[in-house]
Amino acid sequence: MPRRPPRKPDPSLDLSGHLLELAALPAPLDPHSLFPQVACIEKVASIEKVACIEKVAPIEMEVGSGKGLFLATASAARPDRNFLGVEISGGYARLCAGKLAAQRAVNARIIHGDATYLARCLLPDACLAGVHVYFPDPWWKARHRKRRVLSDLFLSHAGRVIVPGGHLHIWTDVEEYFHEALAAARSTGLFSEARDVETRTAEHDLDYQTHFERRTRLAGAPVWRALLERSATPPTCVRMAVSLPG
Ligand SMILES: C[S@@+](CC[C@H](N)C(=O)[O-])C[C@H]1O[C@@H](n2cnc3c(N)ncnc32)[C@H](O)[C@@H]1O
Repeated sequence: MPRRPPRKPDPSLDLSGHLLELAALPAPLDPHSLFPQVACIEKVASIEKVACIEKVAPIEMEVGSGKGLFLATASAARPDRNFLGVEISGGYARLCAGKLAAQRAVNARIIHGDATYLARCLLPDACLAGVHVYFPDPWWKARHRKRRVLSDLFLSHAGRVIVPGGHLHIWTDVEEYFHEALAAARSTGLFSEARDVETRTAEHDLDYQTHFERRTRLAGAPVWRALLERSATPPTCVRMAVSLPG
């Protein structure tokens, strides 16, 4: 289904603390350098509470953040973790950054760019506690299949950058893509067998992992979910020093 262009974020918001351009990032990129390494102040119901972020808080990366519901919700719920989104569409990356800036999230950032390039060329081994991929574009036409983000290449680098014991989360409404992605993840030899993830009853209108999950469930359609654990097997690929095209 074609997507409407995203809303523009409130122009009075300063996005510079939350929006990063992939093309401007160094290779290799230590993702911890993107987050403050000090305690953060979180305002909760007008009482100021100090939430201490460990010096190297674990980082979870979301691929294709769309409207940013996961980043906004997860970063508010887990002040002890850092959340890094990567979104290829500039409009959606700005929308996410606006959401994070509005809620003054100190532990979330969004990178505008291609997740496969980020994983393959910038991120060092074992630097992430987890990778989340929710409702990746299915690219239905056979000639467009190679654009699917859950490719062999991406999954082998996802395995390289996730720390042993860390997690890969895959949710989609496309059964065929789900099974294909699990088979590709299995063939990297870097993950445990996939575990099912149970559906939770939503307690309010935005109590979903992402906007696409909300849309799919409200339409009564099924969602396939898997949780894979990174094993202790050494990575099967190395970070590639390849320049960004164009
Ligand atoms: C179908 S939407 C799902 C958005 C969100 N995850 C959700 O569930 O609501 C897929 C998103 O992935 C983004 N995307 C597609 N390919 C990507 C890539 N290679 N790197 C980063 N983002 C990508 C698209 O721009 C789009 O915002």
